[in-house]
Amino acid sequence: MAKFKGKRILVTSALPYSNGSLHCGHMLEYIQTDIFVRFLRLIGEDVLFVCADDTHGAPIEIKAAELGITPEKLIADVYKEHLQDFKDFLISFDNYYTTNSPENKYYSDLIFEKLKKNGLIYTKDIEVTYCEYCKRTLPDRYVKGRCPKCNAEEQYGDVCERCNAAYKTIDLIEPYCAICKNKPIRKTSKHYFFKLSQFSNKLESWLNKNKNLQPEVKHFVLNWIKNGLEDWNISRDGPYFGFKIPGEENKYYYVWLDAPIGYIASTDNYCKRHSLKTEDYWNNKNCKIYHFIGKDIVYFHLLFWPAILLGSGFQLPYHIPVHGFLTVNGEKMSKSRGTFFTARDFLSKHNAEHLRFYYAGMLSKRLSDIDLNFDDFRKKINNELAANIGNLCYRVLNFLNKNFYGEIKDIDKNKKLIHEINQKIKNIEKNYYELNFNEAVKDILHISSLGNKYFQDNGPWKLINEDKVKTHKILGLSANIVKNLSILIQPILPNFSLKLQNQLNVDNLKWQDINFELKNHKIGRDEILIEKAEEKEETKMEFPLNLKVAKILEVKEHPNADKLYILDIDLGNEKRQLVAGLKEHYLSDELKDKKIIAVTNLKYAKLRGVESQGMLLAGDDGANVGVLTADKSNVGDKVYIEGHENSAKEISFDEFLKIKLAVQNGKVYFENKELKTDKESVSVEKVKDGARVR
Ligand code: MSP
Ligand code: ZN
Repeated sequence: MAKFKGKRILVTSALPYSNGSLHCGHMLEYIQTDIFVRFLRLIGEDVLFVCADDTHGAPIEIKAAELGITPEKLIADVYKEHLQDFKDFLISFDNYYTTNSPENKYYSDLIFEKLKKNGLIYTKDIEVTYCEYCKRTLPDRYVKGRCPKCNAEEQYGDVCERCNAAYKTIDLIEPYCAICKNKPIRKTSKHYFFKLSQFSNKLESWLNKNKNLQPEVKHFVLNWIKNGLEDWNISRDGPYFGFKIPGEENKYYYVWLDAPIGYIASTDNYCKRHSLKTEDYWNNKNCKIYHFIGKDIVYFHLLFWPAILLGSGFQLPYHIPVHGFLTVNGEKMSKSRGTFFTARDFLSKHNAEHLRFYYAGMLSKRLSDIDLNFDDFRKKINNELAANIGNLCYRVLNFLNKNFYGEIKDIDKNKKLIHEINQKIKNIEKNYYELNFNEAVKDILHISSLGNKYFQDNGPWKLINEDKVKTHKILGLSANIVKNLSILIQPILPNFSLKLQNQLNVDNLKWQDINFELKNHKIGRDEILIEKAEEKEETKMEFPLNLKVAKILEVKEHPNADKLYILDIDLGNEKRQLVAGLKEHYLSDELKDKKIIAVTNLKYAKLRGVESQGMLLAGDDGANVGVLTADKSNVGDKVYIEGHENSAKEISFDEFLKIKLAVQNGKVYFENKELKTDKESVSVEKVKDGARVR
């Protein structure tokens, strides 16, 4: 029975960024949170579930600029997409809001002013990396260069992916702006700092006292504190998409300041519309706040956020359940391996509830990573969901309808079975509360197995000829097991539960309705509820070439070869030089400004002493040579074939020669699939069908 009687519970999931689609990794978190919330509602807790899009920050502003739209337009489009994904995965937020809201501005300013008044904010000049060409201070991820520790090339401005060293953008060797490739300068700029260092003791004692936090998480965080906390820079220079700092012209709150405040703002927005009070959630000892997050954002939620709450007079979270990361087939999701699945990709082939069931079977209160393996996925859906639970429900309801006009009269008083099931139910309740959904699933499956065994052992299809009354009672008990299962599994499979209860002709059952008292009741029509998961092509195939649309900027003569041109090309985010044997086939003016197709992952080679950084593709039918073009596409656009992912791996010229591209009707094909960009099919000039492409 409800454990938090007389208390409120506020539950949040981390706010997903507004700059892209949700993927199956995100869904792990939203499904985990949703199962918990649905369970709490079912058992009668007073729970509110809020979330929002995290709309601010440099990446969103830069992405919008690249797309040629306003950040407002970008976040509005993404918001719509996120909302639809959440709906289709049955995530039951009470409120899904945005951090770019008046409520969030209000609370961000309120908290900022309180921190200031409490002497917790000061300003200091710091050195930043500035691009004079882009006219912006460059965030960590927008400066690249060589690692100051190990000299590895092409590293971001925060950590080296080769040696893991952490450093500041200004420490990079030969830094360049990731947007325009120009060399940035150093500049000083005034920034606002939050005195995180003052909170070491308070945070430590909160962590030690809190009984809910996972021990492994506490351990990390206590270690960070022991190593000394640095004050936190909470401002960013414009251009930036976010809230302006009061009294400043070109400074904004750092997105990680206003993002968690978005939890309060989303609550506030809900409360206003439902005659509730925000303080009853955020300043109320009788409210338990749960923040569900992934392991990558522990620092923000277990140090920054509690310190901000303490410094501005809000209460601290009751629990911050941290989950691990989703891997696919044991590895990090990867576009080139075809294992990066957006929420939409998954829905195009599978049922959302199947993912909920699969994740639930692996989620526990531990921080471990979780693997999505499609063989295992199919096995679980087919053997556990369909063959066990689905089978029991169908055979029981079907038998009742066929033989007893769908009527449950009395039930078999099999005390031993009922007792065993009741024990499991108690465990399930406890495990839902404690976030050990894997254990809850095990016990639910166990109950279902007991039901199947009971039905099988009694053989009602035979017994009915000998003892109809007894058979009817056995079906009565079986139907009660099915009814209980419909409640027990509801947090995980809300639609399945709804349909099953519909077949049982009961409605809106609560945890309190788990019992063996459904008697003298007529059920509805039975139907098969769980479809088996079929084998499908899950991963996208790899296309060995990484092709892009490039524009020819300049055509130069090769100093040592009559047949070769040297072409300067623009690939959107970079410029390269190619050497191409086109001189006998094209005048230089014909080529200039043309949008051609470049192989960008070909090993660089010297051709008669001049480096070719890749090559362009052209058709050759023996008589003519014509280049591949994509006029309507943008420079830098990906050229690909449907169902395949472009490879990121470098290939040698020999490997390249093995790849067969065919020309037909002026278009180019790989394994019968057309080469295309998002805007058009690629064309080839001058050559006849059957020409080879190089
Ligand atoms: N916007 C921040 C959160 C702000 S909360 C005040 C953010 N957004 S995110 O879109 O990158 O991630 C949202 C949540 O999804 C995070 O809790 C993150 O840990 C989780 N996940 C993102 N990728 C994931 C996996 N591959 N696997 C599991 N969870 C993952 O962080
Ligand atoms: Zn720049």
